[in-house]
Amino acid sequence: MLDTRTLRATQYAWMADDPAIYLNAASVGPMPQAAVDVADRWSAMRARPHALPFQDMLDSAATARAQFAALVGADAEEIALMPNTTYGLNLAARALPLRPGVILTFDGEFPSCVYPFQALGSRGVELELVPRVHGLPDEDTLVQAIAQRDDVVAVVVSWTQFASGYVADLARIGHACRARGVFFIVDGIQGCGVRPIDLHALPVDIFASGAQKWQLGPWGTGFVYVRRELVTTLQPFDVGWACMKRSTDYTRLTDYEFDFFDDARRFEVVTLAYQDFAVANASTALLLELGVANVAAHIEALTGRIVDWAQSRRDVRLVTPPEPARRAGVVSFVPAALDAMAARLTAAHVSHTVREGAIRLSPHVYNTAAEMDAVVGVLER
Ligand SMILES: Cc1ncc(COP(=O)(O)O)c(C=O)c1O
Repeated sequence: MLDTRTLRATQYAWMADDPAIYLNAASVGPMPQAAVDVADRWSAMRARPHALPFQDMLDSAATARAQFAALVGADAEEIALMPNTTYGLNLAARALPLRPGVILTFDGEFPSCVYPFQALGSRGVELELVPRVHGLPDEDTLVQAIAQRDDVVAVVVSWTQFASGYVADLARIGHACRARGVFFIVDGIQGCGVRPIDLHALPVDIFASGAQKWQLGPWGTGFVYVRRELVTTLQPFDVGWACMKRSTDYTRLTDYEFDFFDDARRFEVVTLAYQDFAVANASTALLLELGVANVAAHIEALTGRIVDWAQSRRDVRLVTPPEPARRAGVVSFVPAALDAMAARLTAAHVSHTVREGAIRLSPHVYNTAAEMDAVVGVLER
């Protein structure tokens, strides 16, 4: 059980006297005080770089790899630090040895799952969208296509969809892929930090996430997981000094020894955002300390209130699947008078977004049952 009261008092003290009810982690996760403190400390050190020990910079990156790995059930050697999700998806699109054929994804995915793969046309790799059924991904059709077609070379899906909130069955899709030698790529940003995951137990080849939403970190921080067996077989598509073993020895950089790291650092091209990763580390540490399973249980109870409300109304269409296994932190619904309802939420200081014609609410660990009751009161008005 989460102690939300203590969490709010220590990490989100501003919530006590700010009228906002923040239900928009699916856009931007608010950084906890521990992360803000690290940002302040690092900014002060960054202003006087001689006061910033070089080892602290290396440690910030190493800790980020280790903590992101812990968050998703991977090893640090399988994690490359990235500025965002999309960069990791580009790695998948361009470094995986894809033969000419078809990549499948769901219609309705965030564009990061679409454009990097559409860009492969000149290599004879085409992206195909599996049509939605009742506005949601059609997993049966996807799995059937993987099993029956010979032209499918990869599948890319979001773990949790940004607009519908639909949670994909990664085990089911992944096993279908594995059985046919098809690469399986996952955009994890809308689930990472809000649902437990054990990548070593899943047939996922590449998993990318950014820390700025549910991971409560700063913009510009994220990671890509590359399954251990793939790490050394993938040729980095962007090549820089930081991918190479030589980059650890500043006394001999001009030896120009073309020898990639044997772990996922081979995909880290440039000087890292050490400061931002130090900040992200404070956020990840908090999530790990709270326990992602506890966070998930807390959020399930909060989102359940919105789901129950939407299902009780004949003039509201719930977009997100009601089954807890099929949703994470996002709940989307379409009321009869969407604009009026969005205006009411705004007037009541309820942070929300409208995505793809639906109102999207996305509570996180700091939200309370009382807040959700207040929001239901606004929706009901
Ligand atoms: C599913 C999904 N993927 C990716 C992104 C953003 O990607 P990036 O972190 O590369 O900006 C979003 C942001 O809304 C998203 O919802």
